[in-house]
Amino acid sequence: MRIHTAYEGALGEHFADNSTDGPCNAHTDRPAMLDLAGDVTGLRVLDAGCGAGHYITELRARGAAEVVGVEGSATLLRHARARVGDDVAVALHQHDLEEPLGFLSDDSFDLVVIALVHHHLEARRQLLAEAHRVLRPGGTLLVSTVHPTADWVWHGGSYFDEDRVETRFGDSGTTHSYRRMTMQTFLGELLDTGFALERFAEPRATEAARRVDESRYLKTHRTPFFVAVRMRKNEASRDAFDGPPRPGS
Ligand SMILES: C[S@@+](CC[C@H](N)C(=O)[O-])C[C@H]1O[C@@H](n2cnc3c(N)ncnc32)[C@H](O)[C@@H]1O
Repeated sequence: MRIHTAYEGALGEHFADNSTDGPCNAHTDRPAMLDLAGDVTGLRVLDAGCGAGHYITELRARGAAEVVGVEGSATLLRHARARVGDDVAVALHQHDLEEPLGFLSDDSFDLVVIALVHHHLEARRQLLAEAHRVLRPGGTLLVSTVHPTADWVWHGGSYFDEDRVETRFGDSGTTHSYRRMTMQTFLGELLDTGFALERFAEPRATEAARRVDESRYLKTHRTPFFVAVRMRKNEASRDAFDGPPRPGS
């Protein structure tokens, strides 16, 4: 399976290595998202775009009962499998997130995590609708993405440009592409899907990042890098709630 936006080969290897202790993933995005997650004890979690499995092991260490990881990159799935080891409460699937999650049942998760993934996708509304479908009523969705202001600073043009950008990925010698979008588009797509906004964060690197890369640490304290949100699926059952369109409808 070759998925256009999945982090394969050198990009995947670089990301797997970098996300263990790198300033952006390990010390900016992940602590903010885990803070938004709160107490995960006993929860059944879906990690969509699980990368090298860092969220999975962290969520299990914090007491999540089960975690399902879905990832498009064979390179990163290999890393995720090695990281997870023989933990029988974790299931990993290779799947293109541009496609519906038909192998997952309705109302079967308490928490869905989409960390720094959905800006890579064009079928974002479909993925959000799928997250809504598989969450139980009252369940939680966490999403993080590149901060629209960061993209404006880095790529120029108008703040309102919503083009696909191709950028160098650290010093991996490779590039990755994603769609930049305004805050209105990012939040609008989530709200249109039927989620309610509970918490909103513009994470800055934690103190641990200073040890790894002081200049990057300082940079995240001047320029927003990421945005992270905690959303809730309406408590009402889908019968009572005119929810988002189902994939293919
Ligand atoms: C920045 S990484 C984030 C990984 C992980 N969520 C984390 O925070 O450590 C983006 C991830 O999205 C995955 N991805 C991108 N496009 C995808 C697609 N169409 N289907 C499945 N995974 C995809 C990449 O392979 C990569 O693992």
